[in-house]
Amino acid sequence: MARILITSAIPYINGIKHLGNLVGSQLPADLYARYQRGRGNEVMFLCATDEHGTPAELAAAKAGKPVAAYCAEMHEVQAKIAEGFRLSFDYFGRSSSPQNHRLTQHFAGTLAEAGLIREVTENQMYSKADGRFLPDRYIEGTCPNCGFDSARGDQCDNCTKQLDPVDLIDPHSTISGSTDLEMRETKHLFLCQSQMKDQLEAWIDSKSDWPVLTTSIAKKWLNDGDGLQDRGITRDLDWGIPVKRGDEDWPGMEGKVFYVWFDAPIEYIACGAEWAEANGKTDADWERWWRTDKGAGDVRYVQFMGKDNVPFHTLSFPATIIGSGEPWKLVDYIKSFNYLNYDGGQFSTSRGRGVFMDQALDILPADYWRWWLLSHAPESSDSEFTWENFQQSVNKDLADVLGNFVSRVTKFCRSKFGEVVPEGGDYGEQEFALVAELQEKLDAFEAHMEAMEIRKSAAELRAIWVAGNEYLQAAAPWAAFKQDPERAAAIVRLSLNLIRFYAVLSAPFIPDASAKMLAAMGTEGADWPGSVGDALAVLEPGHGFTVPEVLFAKISDEDREAWQERFAGTRD
Ligand code: MF3
Ligand code: ZN
Repeated sequence: MARILITSAIPYINGIKHLGNLVGSQLPADLYARYQRGRGNEVMFLCATDEHGTPAELAAAKAGKPVAAYCAEMHEVQAKIAEGFRLSFDYFGRSSSPQNHRLTQHFAGTLAEAGLIREVTENQMYSKADGRFLPDRYIEGTCPNCGFDSARGDQCDNCTKQLDPVDLIDPHSTISGSTDLEMRETKHLFLCQSQMKDQLEAWIDSKSDWPVLTTSIAKKWLNDGDGLQDRGITRDLDWGIPVKRGDEDWPGMEGKVFYVWFDAPIEYIACGAEWAEANGKTDADWERWWRTDKGAGDVRYVQFMGKDNVPFHTLSFPATIIGSGEPWKLVDYIKSFNYLNYDGGQFSTSRGRGVFMDQALDILPADYWRWWLLSHAPESSDSEFTWENFQQSVNKDLADVLGNFVSRVTKFCRSKFGEVVPEGGDYGEQEFALVAELQEKLDAFEAHMEAMEIRKSAAELRAIWVAGNEYLQAAAPWAAFKQDPERAAAIVRLSLNLIRFYAVLSAPFIPDASAKMLAAMGTEGADWPGSVGDALAVLEPGHGFTVPEVLFAKISDEDREAWQERFAGTRD
């Protein structure tokens, strides 16, 4: 039994995620976790909410709530929706947890001892009215380049010019509106990534099996321009993890917190500790996943994320781990994704464009979305959601191919043989050919799933469903029944076993339909097939079953048009 640690990029706390976010990390991670559990391996699947940083502060302010309360509420909202999508996290943690506070401060302390943190004195905008230093995006003013009157301190959204807050004409605080701003000296901490460049590069170069999307982004950051830069890891915010060296105060860092991108990946580890606490386990129980000196040596660690997250996972987080000099588990494989677009444009959280996770579940159950998203995962390039394509996939793959097979077989059997697996009749050429074909396809499916080739896996699974349909069509038990009811019994017996076989293989993609199929087949036995031949003999003659309700309803043209219309604009 292998041990597999799986993390999904942790979603920002502010607001509900859209389907593009979902397919870029949480959903493929869930697919892989379910598959590996299905294969009988020991899995630890962790995710959390990413709760710090300016976006969290701004969203809480907009909602008129204290930021801690806002985060607690939004965490519950995201957890509910994750459940709705059947994301099977072993734990869904919070980057604001006490465990993450401790670990983040611990890492900062060990990095400082290793000489990998330097203090930098900078001039930064201070707002007297707000009593605080302002991060760049908390300052707005008139763009010196194009005259746009709400350019941000870091960039003008009108002409896209990169700005410095001092460039702005008539700058003001976006918190209070105050124009009483002045430059003051302040200190920040920088992680000396540049010192670790060779080590990081050698590590990346040793990963010859990683997707090109992952390694090419890492190499670009390592070698573009002046090469890997040191990175500021502190910010002047109220909300966040206070800057400390282990549990000691850090002189000159009073009132500052760690940068969200420093503490967020550390939450992957802290989440393990949260899992242990929530389940009455010991430190040893989570450390055997995360410490190579405590049993994690034989763990395979896989991370899932969108491409914008790759630099942080290939360079910054490894710099934190390697730099600490402690035996923490490093990632073994990074699966990254391109973007999913929405109907001729981009999904956009800030503009509320596209379908968001809560809205999707309002319209249709999770399996419909899971199937479309996974079978169209943006792997080799960006991909696009259109309502036509969604309707077509659901109606063809799920309703016509899989759903129809289940319904035809179970209903035919009920009407001719009753609700038991029929006995009698022998398997012949057609059955042997089918078993051989399915064995080949099962081998291919497993290989794609192991390799996290999501689209190829979905295509192979669909081909496995299609093979059963074609067999049924050719064997035609309804015709056979008239002359040779025993022959019809054999065909139906095999077909009922196919339903169970499909339920087991399809569970990682469409867990609810799979559970319904297993329940209808009167079995909970969902062991991964050793061989196709054995798997198709599990339900024996005389075993009872029931006809399930329709597994997948077709999407009508009227529904499709209504949804297209409803989601054409932006969310309120
Ligand atoms: N919240 C980030 C995003 O949605 C992802 C953080 S991943 C972690 O892009 F590694 F930092 F945890
Ligand atoms: Zn401008």
